[in-house]
Amino acid sequence: MKIAVAGTGYVGLSVAVLLAQHNEVHALDIVPEKVDLLNHGKSPIIDPVITDFLDKNVSGERPLDFHATLDPQEAYTNVDFAVIATPTNYDEKKNYFDTSSVEAAIAAVREHAPHAWIVIKSTIPVGYTQQLRDTLHDNHILFSPEFLREGHALSDNLHPTRIVVGAPQDDEASVKAAHEFVDLLAHGADPEEKTRINADGSIGIPELVVGTTEAEAIKLFANTYLALRVAYFNELDTYAESRGLNTREIIDGVCLDPRIGEGYNNPSFGYGGYCLPKDTKQLLANYNKVPQNLIEAIVDANSTRKEFIASDVMDRIKDVEHPVIGIYRLTMKSGSDNFRQSAIQDVLKQFKANGIPVLIYEPTL
Ligand SMILES: NC(=O)c1ccc[n+]([C@@H]2O[C@H](COP(=O)([O-])OP(=O)(O)OC[C@H]3O[C@@H](n4cnc5c(N)ncnc54)[C@H](O)[C@@H]3O)[C@@H](O)[C@H]2O)c1
Repeated sequence: MKIAVAGTGYVGLSVAVLLAQHNEVHALDIVPEKVDLLNHGKSPIIDPVITDFLDKNVSGERPLDFHATLDPQEAYTNVDFAVIATPTNYDEKKNYFDTSSVEAAIAAVREHAPHAWIVIKSTIPVGYTQQLRDTLHDNHILFSPEFLREGHALSDNLHPTRIVVGAPQDDEASVKAAHEFVDLLAHGADPEEKTRINADGSIGIPELVVGTTEAEAIKLFANTYLALRVAYFNELDTYAESRGLNTREIIDGVCLDPRIGEGYNNPSFGYGGYCLPKDTKQLLANYNKVPQNLIEAIVDANSTRKEFIASDVMDRIKDVEHPVIGIYRLTMKSGSDNFRQSAIQDVLKQFKANGIPVLIYEPTL
Protein backbone atom coordinates (compact mmCIF):
# COMPACT_ATOMS: atom_id res chain seq x y z
CA MET A 1 0.00 0.00 0.00
CA LYS A 2 1.29 3.53 -0.75
CA ILE A 3 0.84 5.92 2.17
CA ALA A 4 1.77 9.60 2.58
CA VAL A 5 2.27 11.29 5.92
CA ALA A 6 2.13 15.09 6.13
CA GLY A 7 4.32 16.38 8.96
CA THR A 8 7.41 14.67 10.38
CA GLY A 9 7.03 15.77 14.00
CA TYR A 10 6.37 13.49 16.97
CA VAL A 11 3.12 12.16 15.57
CA GLY A 12 3.88 12.08 11.84
CA LEU A 13 7.34 10.57 12.10
CA SER A 14 6.36 7.81 14.52
CA VAL A 15 3.32 6.85 12.43
CA ALA A 16 5.38 7.01 9.21
CA VAL A 17 8.11 4.74 10.60
CA LEU A 18 5.52 2.34 12.05
CA LEU A 19 3.72 2.04 8.70
CA ALA A 20 6.98 1.89 6.68
CA GLN A 21 7.67 -1.58 8.09
CA HIS A 22 4.99 -3.02 5.76
CA ASN A 23 4.06 -0.23 3.32
CA GLU A 24 5.63 2.27 0.94
CA VAL A 25 5.63 5.49 3.00
CA HIS A 26 6.37 9.02 1.80
CA ALA A 27 6.78 11.53 4.63
CA LEU A 28 6.33 15.15 3.62
CA ASP A 29 7.45 18.20 5.55
CA ILE A 30 7.86 21.89 4.76
CA VAL A 31 11.14 22.21 6.69
CA PRO A 32 14.10 21.24 4.44
CA GLU A 33 16.44 20.51 7.40
CA LYS A 34 14.04 17.83 8.75
CA VAL A 35 13.69 16.15 5.36
CA ASP A 36 17.44 16.26 4.86
CA LEU A 37 18.13 14.68 8.25
CA LEU A 38 15.58 11.94 7.59
CA ASN A 39 17.01 11.15 4.17
CA HIS A 40 20.38 10.70 5.91
CA GLY A 41 18.83 8.25 8.36
CA LYS A 42 18.74 10.74 11.27
CA SER A 43 15.78 11.65 13.43
CA PRO A 44 14.94 15.35 13.81
CA ILE A 45 13.40 14.61 17.23
CA ILE A 46 14.82 12.85 20.28
CA ASP A 47 13.19 9.43 20.41
CA PRO A 48 15.43 6.43 21.06
CA VAL A 49 13.16 3.91 19.32
CA ILE A 50 12.81 6.05 16.18
CA THR A 51 16.61 6.44 16.13
CA ASP A 52 17.01 2.68 16.49
CA PHE A 53 14.59 1.98 13.61
CA LEU A 54 16.30 4.56 11.36
CA ASP A 55 19.76 3.17 12.22
CA LYS A 56 18.66 -0.39 11.46
CA ASN A 57 17.15 0.78 8.19
CA VAL A 58 20.48 2.32 7.16
CA SER A 59 22.43 -0.82 8.17
CA GLY A 60 19.90 -3.08 6.40
CA GLU A 61 19.18 -5.01 9.61
CA ARG A 62 15.51 -3.96 9.59
CA PRO A 63 14.59 -2.36 6.26
CA LEU A 64 11.90 0.30 6.06
CA ASP A 65 10.19 1.50 2.88
CA PHE A 66 10.51 5.11 4.01
CA HIS A 67 11.21 8.25 1.98
CA ALA A 68 11.14 11.87 3.15
CA THR A 69 10.35 14.67 0.74
CA LEU A 70 9.47 18.35 0.40
CA ASP A 71 7.57 17.66 -2.82
CA PRO A 72 3.77 17.20 -2.45
CA GLN A 73 3.50 15.63 -5.89
CA GLU A 74 6.06 12.95 -5.02
CA ALA A 75 4.44 12.33 -1.65
CA TYR A 76 0.76 12.28 -2.57
CA THR A 77 0.44 10.95 -6.13
CA ASN A 78 -1.32 7.56 -6.21
CA VAL A 79 -1.49 7.14 -2.43
CA ASP A 80 -4.17 4.97 -0.86
CA PHE A 81 -4.04 6.80 2.48
CA ALA A 82 -2.74 10.28 3.34
CA VAL A 83 -2.17 10.81 7.05
CA ILE A 84 -2.22 14.42 8.29
CA ALA A 85 -0.01 15.10 11.31
CA THR A 86 0.56 18.86 11.10
CA PRO A 87 0.34 21.27 14.07
CA THR A 88 -2.91 22.59 15.53
CA ASN A 89 -1.73 25.31 17.91
CA TYR A 90 -4.23 27.03 20.16
CA ASP A 91 -5.20 30.45 18.83
CA GLU A 92 -5.71 32.56 21.98
CA LYS A 93 -7.51 35.27 19.97
CA LYS A 94 -10.05 32.97 18.32
CA ASN A 95 -10.19 30.78 21.44
CA TYR A 96 -9.99 27.73 19.18
CA PHE A 97 -7.36 25.52 17.53
CA ASP A 98 -5.70 26.98 14.47
CA THR A 99 -6.42 24.20 11.96
CA SER A 100 -4.98 26.05 8.94
CA SER A 101 -2.04 23.63 8.51
CA VAL A 102 -4.45 20.68 8.39
CA GLU A 103 -6.52 22.47 5.75
CA ALA A 104 -3.40 23.34 3.73
CA ALA A 105 -2.24 19.72 3.85
CA ILE A 106 -5.67 18.42 2.79
CA ALA A 107 -5.76 20.85 -0.16
CA ALA A 108 -2.31 19.64 -1.24
CA VAL A 109 -3.37 15.98 -0.97
CA ARG A 110 -6.47 16.61 -3.06
CA GLU A 111 -4.43 18.29 -5.80
CA HIS A 112 -2.48 15.09 -6.39
CA ALA A 113 -4.71 12.34 -4.98
CA PRO A 114 -8.38 13.23 -5.51
CA HIS A 115 -9.68 9.89 -4.22
CA ALA A 116 -7.23 8.90 -1.47
CA TRP A 117 -8.50 8.33 2.05
CA ILE A 118 -7.35 11.17 4.26
CA VAL A 119 -6.83 10.33 7.92
CA ILE A 120 -6.37 13.33 10.23
CA LYS A 121 -4.06 12.42 13.14
CA SER A 122 -3.64 16.02 14.34
CA THR A 123 -5.75 16.88 17.37
CA ILE A 124 -8.75 18.87 16.19
CA PRO A 125 -11.87 20.47 17.70
CA VAL A 126 -14.87 18.25 18.38
CA GLY A 127 -17.05 18.21 15.25
CA TYR A 128 -14.27 19.39 12.90
CA THR A 129 -14.07 16.34 10.60
CA GLN A 130 -17.79 16.32 9.87
CA GLN A 131 -17.69 20.06 9.25
CA LEU A 132 -14.81 19.58 6.82
CA ARG A 133 -16.55 16.71 5.02
CA ASP A 134 -19.60 18.95 4.61
CA THR A 135 -17.85 22.15 3.51
CA LEU A 136 -15.40 20.41 1.16
CA HIS A 137 -18.05 17.95 -0.10
CA ASP A 138 -15.43 15.30 0.57
CA ASN A 139 -16.58 12.02 2.05
CA HIS A 140 -13.09 10.48 2.10
CA ILE A 141 -11.90 12.15 5.32
CA LEU A 142 -11.47 10.19 8.57
CA PHE A 143 -10.01 11.03 11.98
CA SER A 144 -7.77 8.90 14.17
CA PRO A 145 -6.74 10.32 17.56
CA GLU A 146 -3.11 9.89 18.54
CA PHE A 147 -2.24 9.01 22.14
CA LEU A 148 1.56 8.94 22.09
CA ARG A 149 3.88 10.61 24.61
CA GLU A 150 6.79 12.73 23.39
CA GLY A 151 10.08 10.87 23.85
CA HIS A 152 8.20 7.54 23.53
CA ALA A 153 6.40 8.29 20.27
CA LEU A 154 7.26 5.17 18.29
CA SER A 155 7.23 2.91 21.33
CA ASP A 156 3.68 4.06 22.11
CA ASN A 157 2.66 3.24 18.55
CA LEU A 158 4.33 -0.18 18.72
CA HIS A 159 2.47 -0.84 21.99
CA PRO A 160 -0.73 1.20 21.65
CA THR A 161 -3.21 1.43 24.53
CA ARG A 162 -5.94 1.36 21.88
CA ILE A 163 -6.48 2.17 18.21
CA VAL A 164 -9.37 4.51 17.49
CA VAL A 165 -10.56 5.58 14.04
CA GLY A 166 -13.55 7.83 13.44
CA ALA A 167 -15.81 7.45 10.41
CA PRO A 168 -19.48 8.39 9.94
CA GLN A 169 -21.26 5.25 11.06
CA ASP A 170 -23.89 5.48 8.31
CA ASP A 171 -21.28 5.63 5.54
CA GLU A 172 -20.34 2.06 4.64
CA ALA A 173 -17.29 2.98 2.52
CA SER A 174 -15.86 5.22 5.25
CA VAL A 175 -16.36 2.57 7.94
CA LYS A 176 -14.63 0.01 5.70
CA ALA A 177 -11.70 2.40 5.12
CA ALA A 178 -11.54 3.09 8.88
CA HIS A 179 -11.19 -0.65 9.55
CA GLU A 180 -8.47 -0.85 6.89
CA PHE A 181 -6.57 1.94 8.64
CA VAL A 182 -6.98 0.19 12.01
CA ASP A 183 -5.49 -2.94 10.40
CA LEU A 184 -2.54 -0.94 9.02
CA LEU A 185 -1.71 0.47 12.47
CA ALA A 186 -2.25 -2.90 14.18
CA HIS A 187 -0.01 -4.65 11.61
CA GLY A 188 2.77 -2.17 12.42
CA ALA A 189 2.49 -2.77 16.17
CA ASP A 190 4.76 -5.18 18.03
CA PRO A 191 3.49 -8.70 17.15
CA GLU A 192 3.41 -9.56 20.89
CA GLU A 193 0.53 -7.09 21.28
CA LYS A 194 -1.75 -9.57 19.45
CA THR A 195 -1.72 -11.87 22.45
CA ARG A 196 -1.59 -9.35 25.28
CA ILE A 197 -4.27 -9.59 27.94
CA ASN A 198 -5.97 -6.28 28.77
CA ALA A 199 -7.26 -5.21 32.21
CA ASP A 200 -10.82 -6.17 31.20
CA GLY A 201 -9.66 -9.67 30.17
CA SER A 202 -9.87 -9.01 26.42
CA ILE A 203 -6.97 -10.11 24.23
CA GLY A 204 -4.98 -7.95 21.80
CA ILE A 205 -5.04 -4.24 21.06
CA PRO A 206 -8.51 -2.77 21.65
CA GLU A 207 -9.79 -1.43 18.31
CA LEU A 208 -12.59 1.12 18.11
CA VAL A 209 -14.27 2.39 14.94
CA VAL A 210 -16.65 5.11 16.10
CA GLY A 211 -18.20 8.30 14.68
CA THR A 212 -15.74 11.05 13.74
CA THR A 213 -17.11 13.41 16.39
CA GLU A 214 -16.95 10.71 19.07
CA ALA A 215 -13.33 9.98 18.06
CA GLU A 216 -12.48 13.68 18.38
CA ALA A 217 -14.19 13.79 21.78
CA ILE A 218 -12.25 10.70 22.94
CA LYS A 219 -8.99 12.55 22.34
CA LEU A 220 -9.95 15.81 24.09
CA PHE A 221 -11.70 14.11 27.03
CA ALA A 222 -8.74 11.73 27.52
CA ASN A 223 -6.25 14.59 27.66
CA THR A 224 -8.52 16.70 29.86
CA TYR A 225 -8.80 13.79 32.29
CA LEU A 226 -5.01 13.54 32.41
CA ALA A 227 -4.80 17.29 33.02
CA LEU A 228 -7.39 16.90 35.80
CA ARG A 229 -5.22 14.28 37.45
CA VAL A 230 -2.09 16.42 37.26
CA ALA A 231 -4.02 19.45 38.54
CA TYR A 232 -5.48 17.36 41.39
CA PHE A 233 -2.11 16.20 42.70
CA ASN A 234 -0.69 19.68 42.19
CA GLU A 235 -3.46 21.14 44.36
CA LEU A 236 -2.87 18.41 46.93
CA ASP A 237 0.76 19.54 47.02
CA THR A 238 -0.21 23.23 47.22
CA TYR A 239 -2.30 22.39 50.28
CA ALA A 240 0.42 20.25 51.88
CA GLU A 241 3.10 22.91 51.23
CA SER A 242 0.90 25.64 52.68
CA ARG A 243 0.15 23.60 55.81
CA GLY A 244 3.66 22.19 56.29
CA LEU A 245 2.62 18.60 55.54
CA ASN A 246 4.52 15.80 53.80
CA THR A 247 3.09 15.63 50.28
CA ARG A 248 4.64 12.30 49.35
CA GLU A 249 3.23 10.52 52.40
CA ILE A 250 -0.23 11.81 51.58
CA ILE A 251 -0.02 10.86 47.89
CA ASP A 252 1.31 7.38 48.68
CA GLY A 253 -1.52 6.81 51.15
CA VAL A 254 -4.15 8.13 48.74
CA CYS A 255 -2.91 6.13 45.76
CA LEU A 256 -2.83 2.77 47.52
CA ASP A 257 -6.56 2.63 46.85
CA PRO A 258 -6.65 0.69 43.56
CA ARG A 259 -9.59 2.82 42.37
CA ILE A 260 -7.22 5.81 42.47
CA GLY A 261 -4.07 3.95 41.49
CA GLU A 262 -0.37 4.70 41.32
CA GLY A 263 1.14 6.70 38.48
CA TYR A 264 0.62 10.12 37.01
CA ASN A 265 0.57 11.52 40.54
CA ASN A 266 3.79 13.49 40.72
CA PRO A 267 3.34 17.17 41.68
CA SER A 268 4.84 19.59 39.18
CA PHE A 269 4.91 23.26 38.23
CA GLY A 270 1.66 22.72 36.35
CA TYR A 271 0.64 20.60 33.39
CA GLY A 272 2.55 21.76 30.34
CA GLY A 273 3.81 20.63 26.97
CA TYR A 274 2.22 20.82 23.57
CA CYS A 275 -1.01 18.96 24.26
CA LEU A 276 -2.63 19.25 27.70
CA PRO A 277 -2.80 23.07 27.95
CA LYS A 278 -4.28 23.49 24.48
CA ASP A 279 -6.52 20.42 24.44
CA THR A 280 -8.21 21.38 27.74
CA LYS A 281 -8.85 24.90 26.42
CA GLN A 282 -10.25 23.53 23.16
CA LEU A 283 -12.59 21.19 25.04
CA LEU A 284 -13.78 24.09 27.19
CA ALA A 285 -14.41 26.11 23.99
CA ASN A 286 -16.35 23.15 22.55
CA TYR A 287 -18.63 23.09 25.62
CA ASN A 288 -19.78 26.57 24.64
CA LYS A 289 -23.24 26.78 26.22
CA VAL A 290 -23.27 23.21 27.56
CA PRO A 291 -23.31 23.37 31.40
CA GLN A 292 -20.02 22.50 33.09
CA ASN A 293 -17.93 23.41 36.14
CA LEU A 294 -15.07 20.95 36.06
CA ILE A 295 -13.62 21.61 32.61
CA GLU A 296 -13.20 25.32 33.33
CA ALA A 297 -11.73 24.54 36.74
CA ILE A 298 -9.15 22.20 35.14
CA VAL A 299 -8.02 25.06 32.88
CA ASP A 300 -7.98 27.62 35.73
CA ALA A 301 -6.27 25.29 38.22
CA ASN A 302 -3.14 25.29 36.08
CA SER A 303 -2.73 29.08 36.30
CA THR A 304 -3.37 29.00 40.05
CA ARG A 305 -0.69 26.36 40.51
CA LYS A 306 1.93 28.29 38.54
CA GLU A 307 1.11 31.46 40.51
CA PHE A 308 1.48 29.49 43.75
CA ILE A 309 4.88 28.08 42.74
CA ALA A 310 6.15 31.52 41.72
CA SER A 311 4.92 33.29 44.85
CA ASP A 312 6.18 30.47 47.10
CA VAL A 313 9.69 30.77 45.64
CA MET A 314 9.62 34.58 45.85
CA ASP A 315 8.47 34.37 49.45
CA ARG A 316 11.45 32.16 50.32
CA ILE A 317 13.94 34.72 48.97
CA LYS A 318 12.19 37.87 50.15
CA ASP A 319 15.05 38.72 52.58
CA VAL A 320 17.84 38.13 50.04
CA GLU A 321 19.37 41.45 48.98
CA HIS A 322 20.13 40.80 45.28
CA PRO A 323 18.36 37.54 44.46
CA VAL A 324 18.90 35.59 41.23
CA ILE A 325 16.72 32.56 40.57
CA GLY A 326 18.33 29.59 38.85
CA ILE A 327 16.18 27.51 36.50
CA TYR A 328 17.32 23.95 35.79
CA ARG A 329 16.00 23.05 32.32
CA LEU A 330 13.09 24.49 30.36
CA THR A 331 11.78 21.16 29.10
CA MET A 332 8.14 20.17 29.59
CA LYS A 333 9.14 17.05 31.54
CA SER A 334 12.22 14.96 32.21
CA GLY A 335 13.40 12.95 29.19
CA SER A 336 11.87 15.43 26.74
CA ASP A 337 13.77 17.63 24.27
CA ASN A 338 10.79 19.91 23.92
CA PHE A 339 9.87 23.07 25.75
CA ARG A 340 6.71 23.99 23.87
CA GLN A 341 4.37 25.46 26.52
CA SER A 342 6.39 24.01 29.39
CA ALA A 343 4.97 25.15 32.73
CA ILE A 344 8.28 26.54 33.98
CA GLN A 345 8.14 29.26 31.31
CA ASP A 346 5.01 30.78 32.86
CA VAL A 347 6.58 30.53 36.31
CA LEU A 348 9.73 32.33 35.21
CA LYS A 349 7.68 35.05 33.51
CA GLN A 350 6.30 35.84 36.97
CA PHE A 351 9.82 36.17 38.39
CA LYS A 352 10.72 38.51 35.58
CA ALA A 353 7.52 40.51 36.04
CA ASN A 354 8.60 41.02 39.67
CA GLY A 355 12.01 42.25 38.57
CA ILE A 356 13.93 39.18 39.76
CA PRO A 357 16.71 38.11 37.39
CA VAL A 358 16.73 34.46 36.32
CA LEU A 359 19.64 32.31 35.21
CA ILE A 360 18.65 29.37 33.01
CA TYR A 361 20.59 26.14 32.51
CA GLU A 362 19.34 24.56 29.28
CA PRO A 363 21.94 22.53 27.37
CA THR A 364 19.71 21.94 24.33
CA LEU A 365 19.41 25.66 23.51
N1 LIG B 1 3.24 15.84 20.44
C1 LIG B 1 2.38 15.02 21.01
O1 LIG B 1 2.64 14.42 22.08
C2 LIG B 1 1.04 14.77 20.37
C3 LIG B 1 0.27 13.67 20.81
C4 LIG B 1 -0.96 13.45 20.23
C5 LIG B 1 -1.45 14.32 19.27
N2 LIG B 1 -0.69 15.39 18.89
C6 LIG B 1 -1.23 16.28 17.86
O2 LIG B 1 -0.65 15.95 16.60
C7 LIG B 1 -0.41 17.13 15.82
C8 LIG B 1 1.05 17.22 15.48
O3 LIG B 1 1.79 17.30 16.68
P1 LIG B 1 3.38 17.10 16.71
O4 LIG B 1 3.78 17.16 18.13
O5 LIG B 1 3.76 15.93 15.88
O6 LIG B 1 3.81 18.45 15.97
P2 LIG B 1 5.26 18.88 15.46
O7 LIG B 1 5.29 20.35 15.52
O8 LIG B 1 6.31 18.10 16.19
O9 LIG B 1 5.29 18.40 13.94
C9 LIG B 1 4.47 18.94 12.96
C10 LIG B 1 5.24 18.91 11.64
O10 LIG B 1 4.35 19.31 10.59
C11 LIG B 1 5.10 20.08 9.66
N3 LIG B 1 4.15 20.83 8.83
C12 LIG B 1 3.50 21.99 9.10
N4 LIG B 1 2.67 22.30 8.08
C13 LIG B 1 2.81 21.31 7.14
C14 LIG B 1 2.21 21.06 5.88
N5 LIG B 1 1.29 21.87 5.37
N6 LIG B 1 2.58 19.95 5.20
C15 LIG B 1 3.50 19.10 5.71
N7 LIG B 1 4.08 19.29 6.92
C16 LIG B 1 3.74 20.37 7.62
C17 LIG B 1 6.02 20.91 10.55
O11 LIG B 1 7.12 21.42 9.84
C18 LIG B 1 6.42 19.88 11.61
O12 LIG B 1 7.59 19.17 11.24
C19 LIG B 1 -0.96 18.29 16.65
O13 LIG B 1 -2.29 18.51 16.29
C20 LIG B 1 -0.90 17.75 18.08
O14 LIG B 1 -1.85 18.36 18.92
C21 LIG B 1 0.56 15.62 19.40
